[in-house]
Amino acid sequence: MSSKILVIGAGGQIGTELVLSLRKLKGDQNVIASDLKDECPESLKNGPYVKLDVLDREMMRSYIISEGIDEVYLLAALLSATAEKNPDFAWKLNMEGLFTILDLAKEKHLKKIFWPSSIAVFGPSTPKVNTPQRTIMEPSTVYGISKQAGERWCEYYHNNFDVDVRSIRYPGLISYTSLPGGGTTDYAVDIFYQAQLGNSYSCFLSENTSLPMMYMEDAIRATIELMESDADKIKIRSAYNLAGISFTPAEIAAEIQKSKPDFQITYAPDFRQKIADSWPGSIDDSEANADWGWKEKYDLQGMVDIMLQNIDIFLLSEG
Ligand code: NAD
Ligand code: SER
Repeated sequence: MSSKILVIGAGGQIGTELVLSLRKLKGDQNVIASDLKDECPESLKNGPYVKLDVLDREMMRSYIISEGIDEVYLLAALLSATAEKNPDFAWKLNMEGLFTILDLAKEKHLKKIFWPSSIAVFGPSTPKVNTPQRTIMEPSTVYGISKQAGERWCEYYHNNFDVDVRSIRYPGLISYTSLPGGGTTDYAVDIFYQAQLGNSYSCFLSENTSLPMMYMEDAIRATIELMESDADKIKIRSAYNLAGISFTPAEIAAEIQKSKPDFQITYAPDFRQKIADSWPGSIDDSEANADWGWKEKYDLQGMVDIMLQNIDIFLLSEG
């Protein structure tokens, strides 16, 4: 029998694509999308949807237990830029939901958990080039602190309570089916909408800020490959580094100009520059490759081509 899966925070940038991929693999009725929103997002109407607040611990517990959920993908969080504006709430949202789900797994109500970490676990003192899996980690953002603490707790629950929790340090994710949710890497999505509208783009990061990014299809495939791997292959129970594609705003603009020669970019760094400056420029993901065979498919050119072919400017008015 197929596992019954709950995706929490399914209406966001990752969830809207992850739910559809999981439904293709596991069957539409076996993957329940949930979010704070009253209405199911249009694209997720091919399967079940339930309104759930991850901060309502009792409601969450009773739903998961009564519905016989086996696996949870916990995506609800405040991302880096939004979190800096509301640190208390970011800490609450990013940590409390995780404990609710880890405790359910500790009590054997859940068999498996996916909880995403981020490149934000690294900080200004981390080596910036080809950042190793294990290195100095002194995050300087509330978001990064919450992700680092979350990683420690995931590993602790695995080691002490045999919880099967798996995680990836996602780079900045680039996609066209929904708008990003308030991160520092959002510029690499915003830029495509302005290019498609025939506008110039004012970038909130400086031209030579290199950050690790990844096309969403690769990120979803990594997530599912990690979750489908045999448990004994998963040697890291904090979170795996994933490399993706490292580029600067100037480099992505130059790639867009190959298709849209009139496109122009200007630079007006804001508070997000400091966040970006604290993160690595490139990542070493050799342990993900060695443990569960991870290999990315998209390079910068492939990602830019597919974004320009598919980006839909009407999303901007809906968002
Ligand atoms: P997002 O902001 O696009 O989506 C988050 C979703 O969670 C939203 O639909 C929101 O309505 C929902 N949500 C918020 N509070 C909730 C609550 N109390 N209960 C239930 N749902 C709630 O975020 P995303 O980009 O899809 O990211 C998902 C996860 O992946 C987050 O943990 C994020 O830190 C991590 N991540 C994302 C990226 C990226 O580039 N998108 C990179 C690294 C890590
Ligand atoms: N894309 C995310 C952010 O910028 C990284 O975790 O917040």
